Amino acid sequence: YNGQTKKVHNPNLLSIAHRGASGFAPENTRAAFQKGVELKADYLECDIHVSKDGELVIMHDDKVDRTTNGNGLISEYTLEELRDFDAGSYHSEEFAGEMIMTMNELLEEFYEQVGLLIELKNPSSYPGIEEKVVDLLKEYEDLSSIIIQSFDSESMKKIHSMLPDLEVAVLIRPAESLLSPKKLDELTSFASYINFNVSFLNKRMVDNIHTRDSKVLVWSKKDKKLVAKAQKYGVDGIISDFSQWPVNEPVLI
Ligand code: G3P
Ligand code: CA
Repeated sequence: YNGQTKKVHNPNLLSIAHRGASGFAPENTRAAFQKGVELKADYLECDIHVSKDGELVIMHDDKVDRTTNGNGLISEYTLEELRDFDAGSYHSEEFAGEMIMTMNELLEEFYEQVGLLIELKNPSSYPGIEEKVVDLLKEYEDLSSIIIQSFDSESMKKIHSMLPDLEVAVLIRPAESLLSPKKLDELTSFASYINFNVSFLNKRMVDNIHTRDSKVLVWSKKDKKLVAKAQKYGVDGIISDFSQWPVNEPVLI
């Protein structure tokens, strides 16, 4: 602390553990989600695909290659087959044996403890995924701690129309970060959040979204200045691999 920085208390900045606290544990696994809870994240972010037998499974890529010892598309394996893959060793031996989880398990194990920000990856590749997600969430009376998000705004519009109580978020691709007023009107008519990569955001866009009564989350994998930028832009939360920043405590900016 050098006198140049100042302490700011911002209780409104949500801390969201990206793919779980994936800076510390294998992404999108139980270990990463538990670490996110330990680090007092407000939400756990995760990514969803569909297995060959129609189960909603948690993984970022559409292939198992990068984060497990298997290879090929998730959609070519049944859940039982996916369970045989080791989803922890790619990170480190300490996590050997971590198993791929389902969205159902995530809800059963974490819904009571922490918010969940659930991303549908390429929903157009999985016809009927919206109905599956909605059917699962209908079992939960209080949906206020769950957000569904996707880069596919049509899919989010569909989810919102099926379950209006559920908040949905639209992720904006970097190349499309300059949204026109018309596009903003359209997206904020159903999306509670419009989410950007922190590198492609400016204060005017945040203000334009807030004016339309929606909120903004920013994500970054490794940007150490994420909190400071989030404060500067006035966004509502950060999605980070390292959710250890005490964003609900005074932070140095
Ligand atoms: O939550 C935003 C972020 O997860 C989107 O990018 O590739 O990490 O799913 P990606
Ligand atoms: Ca994601």
